[in-house]
Amino acid sequence: MTETSRSDDERWPGAALRATAVSRSFEGVQALDDVTIDLRRNEVVGLIGPNGAGKSTLVNVLSGFDAPTVGTVELDGQDVTRWPAHKRGRAGLARTFQHSRSFRTLSVRENVEIAAIGTGTRPREARRRADGLLALLGLDRRADAAASSLPHGDERRLGVARALATQPRYVLMDEPAAGLTEAEVPAFAAVVRSVRDDHEAGVLLIDHNMALIMDVCDRIHVLDQGRMLAEGTPSDIRANLDVAAAYLGESAVAEE
Ligand SMILES: Nc1ncnc2c1ncn2[C@@H]1O[C@H](COP(=O)(O)OP(=O)(O)OP(=O)(O)O)[C@@H](O)[C@H]1O
Ligand SMILES: [Mg+2]
Repeated sequence: MTETSRSDDERWPGAALRATAVSRSFEGVQALDDVTIDLRRNEVVGLIGPNGAGKSTLVNVLSGFDAPTVGTVELDGQDVTRWPAHKRGRAGLARTFQHSRSFRTLSVRENVEIAAIGTGTRPREARRRADGLLALLGLDRRADAAASSLPHGDERRLGVARALATQPRYVLMDEPAAGLTEAEVPAFAAVVRSVRDDHEAGVLLIDHNMALIMDVCDRIHVLDQGRMLAEGTPSDIRANLDVAAAYLGESAVAEE
């Protein structure tokens, strides 16, 4: 356990988003098989694994966009397994999507404002918050553009701004850095750290960019064919992946 997580337990006793022994199958495909994971406030947890490993399915189950076949999801000690996504959103959980869910004809700023208003924020505060988040994510110059006009990397960051507009205590990011250029990745890493350190939220970060994952995560989980293969610090996982690569002759983590 890291220093950060110890102090978190003291500051927010029992606060965590937790999936316990969750499984999810889709007509013969075991997308998740007995998966347990927890995310505390004030930490960044990486979730890596090859395409089809079950990463997005786990985000869906945690956020209420899907229900597990078996297993439970708890939010700060409360069983939310059967809660719909909007109710979990109001309870402090936000997520981004691997594929765009922005309102294409609305402006970038309006997309963020609507996300804030959707969780009960007044319009004036929503506007203020949207402008702050667009600046944080480097999208302020695009604020008045239609969301549909954004290049892929900017679109992903708009999804992050929309999630943060709800001021979540836990935020699940499904490949938010896909589409960013190498030069843009460090600024995004700084945003993830800021969400943890300044907003004091727990971040679950899915990405195929291993440099980003190794750089910003406090802990990393490795999912493969629906099963949790490993969990540890970045250096534990780096060693583990090297062992896997040596035995299998390939990286256990797919390039996108
Ligand atoms: N709604 C669905 N209906 C049927 N099968 C599904 C559904 N959602 C996911 N699957 C299957 O579950 C498995 C896990 O998919 P998932 O999208 O969770 O993987 P992932 O780790 O997010 O992959 P990627 O890195 O490509 O995003 C895959 O075999 C996928 O085809
Ligand atoms: Mg996915």
